[in-house]
Amino acid sequence: MTQDEQKRAAAAAAIQYVPVGSIVGVGTGSTANYFIDELAKIKHKIEGAVASSNVTAQRLKNHGIEVLDLNTVTDLPVYIDGADEITKHLHMIKGGGGALTREKIVSAVARKFICIADQSKLVDVLGAFPLPIEVIPMARSYVAREITYLGGHPALRQDFVTDNGNIILDVHGLQILNPVELETTLNQLTGVVTNGLFARKAANTLLLGTDHSVETITI
Ligand code: 5RP
Repeated sequence: MTQDEQKRAAAAAAIQYVPVGSIVGVGTGSTANYFIDELAKIKHKIEGAVASSNVTAQRLKNHGIEVLDLNTVTDLPVYIDGADEITKHLHMIKGGGGALTREKIVSAVARKFICIADQSKLVDVLGAFPLPIEVIPMARSYVAREITYLGGHPALRQDFVTDNGNIILDVHGLQILNPVELETTLNQLTGVVTNGLFARKAANTLLLGTDHSVETITI
């Protein structure tokens, strides 16, 4: 399968994790878009969806799927989203599309995180993909200096503003051997809204599109 076919196959496999009558948390990105297209086929069987970005909300609405405000939702059985990198421990880097904050909020509420990805996303060590960090604009230089002290090389994502009105620093040059610890450290920096490490709350299941099939990895 090509990379796109792997994404599409993983997205299709995720439908079996959507309980009938439920509200579904939906991620952002090209793999999540394939999932939305699959979800549209069973939209009569779900109550609605919570979106992790404005783009995802629009795509869901275009398919006739009701988009609910997370604040009105008390039970979210599942959140389904892609990743930029994921390890066999199901720790992830996310935020390549800049939606990391809302992704982390929706996934925090969800009981299960199902990650859908093509095989290029599976890595031994996180960090080759630059780690996105959403930052309050006035804290940009301060946070960049602090990240440099931690050994990273931050670059301002050009011409990009998040759905929350903030900027993204993409941090290059990290070899993340302890993602839980680094996620916690970065969370402590004043001015950081969210970092793209999803390790303290990792995925529960990875559906990985490969050359010939979709592999399921659960921890
Ligand atoms: C967006 C994300 C995406 O999940 C991540 O960038 C993967 O995207 P794609 O499915 O297009 O490869 O975190 O903020």
